[in-house]
Amino acid sequence: MVNPGGPIKTPPSRPLPPRTRNGDDAGGGTRDALPGVTVPPRVSRRSSIPAFEVMRITDEIARRRAGGHDVVSLCAGEPSARAVPGTLQPAGYTGPLGTAPLREAVAGHYRQWYGVEVDPATVAITTGSSGAFQLAFLAAFDPGDRVALASPGYPAYRNILTALGVHVIEIQTGPDTRYQPTPELLDAAVGEHGDLAGLVLASPANPTGTMLDRAALAALVAWCSLRGVRLVSDEIYHGITFGDDGQDRRGVTARELDREAIVINSFSKYWGMTGWRLGWALLPDSLVAPFEALASNFALSPPAPAQELALTAFTDESYAERDAIVAGFARARKLILDAEPSLGWGVAAPSDGAFYYYSELGPQLERFADSVEYARRLLAEADVAVVPGVDFDPVAGSRAVRLSYAAGESAVAEALDRIVRFQNDG
Ligand SMILES: Cc1ncc(COP(=O)(O)O)c(C=O)c1O
Repeated sequence: MVNPGGPIKTPPSRPLPPRTRNGDDAGGGTRDALPGVTVPPRVSRRSSIPAFEVMRITDEIARRRAGGHDVVSLCAGEPSARAVPGTLQPAGYTGPLGTAPLREAVAGHYRQWYGVEVDPATVAITTGSSGAFQLAFLAAFDPGDRVALASPGYPAYRNILTALGVHVIEIQTGPDTRYQPTPELLDAAVGEHGDLAGLVLASPANPTGTMLDRAALAALVAWCSLRGVRLVSDEIYHGITFGDDGQDRRGVTARELDREAIVINSFSKYWGMTGWRLGWALLPDSLVAPFEALASNFALSPPAPAQELALTAFTDESYAERDAIVAGFARARKLILDAEPSLGWGVAAPSDGAFYYYSELGPQLERFADSVEYARRLLAEADVAVVPGVDFDPVAGSRAVRLSYAAGESAVAEALDRIVRFQNDG
């Protein structure tokens, strides 16, 4: 749950000050020049990025619930939370890359799930995968570098890279490539924009849930290796998969195929520990020292109590418990797939994994201007929260919505009923 105590309004951000005549930003310097006149300190230009739409809607949900509305939320990708310890105890910093036992346990997880040997010294524990992305992008890319990513895709990649002065090259994907980049699409992007420094992949992806199989991932790895392009592989939804792909059923880790790849993962999704803010990165040898230098300055250390709890994540009991939760996601997913004819929407992405269903609204767009209006009215008139695709895909997202079925079977069943009634009554 985000902000369980109720919504807190974010103050409007300060406008950027006007530039002075010689083109420099007006800032601290003008304070001395005009005694008695205060000049607000300026906001950095690099922080001028969009807020995350999912979190904005989450705030709106809290507001409506506080107003007595029974809102069914298919909004945030948030599985059921884990138990909270009862007592508050002081906890000290840990090493900047995390505790040794947890780094070893993460390495053990790769042995168990993928049969891959990982040196614990190359494991960095971070504040969620979000913390890993910030540090990885800082360690691997310089301002002005070009980094490609798939659209639709998780918006924070684009926004963090932009805030860091990195040029984002959006690879527009669709049903023909299962919403994932291909070597051909990357060749075309290089032809149009120039050489790339990096490529960010996600499998299963958010918002589509689509996955890269071993051959597709290997082709992208080979493309990157030939060109010195740093691959960043977001594997945060590994384990939440619905196919029966033998040894690859948890997902294929890029670590197995490319020692230069940065692999990022988290305790947030498979283990349902979103609020504990714990994730990790597997680093190539050359990035361990830079990553550690950055981590020790930016975050000092990952949260100590969360690291202790996370040690229990890699037991047989824990895997069994989480696999049972994934089986529940599978049932919720099936409810949506079975309801496709009555929803009457357009093309949907193959939902191989994660807990997302991403679909074009198709015929619904004859009645609603776009997915933003559809989602706004669905919440206002039927108390069902879904996310319009615009945040994930600035080009075609105005035609699509994302449903998170992390909320479980009964919430999904209720939401589907309400959606069908909303569409039929409207
Ligand atoms: C694809 C993807 N990557 C990363 C994250 C960040 O998760 P966290 O920082 O909780 O690990 C999310 C969260 O929804 C996500 O969907």
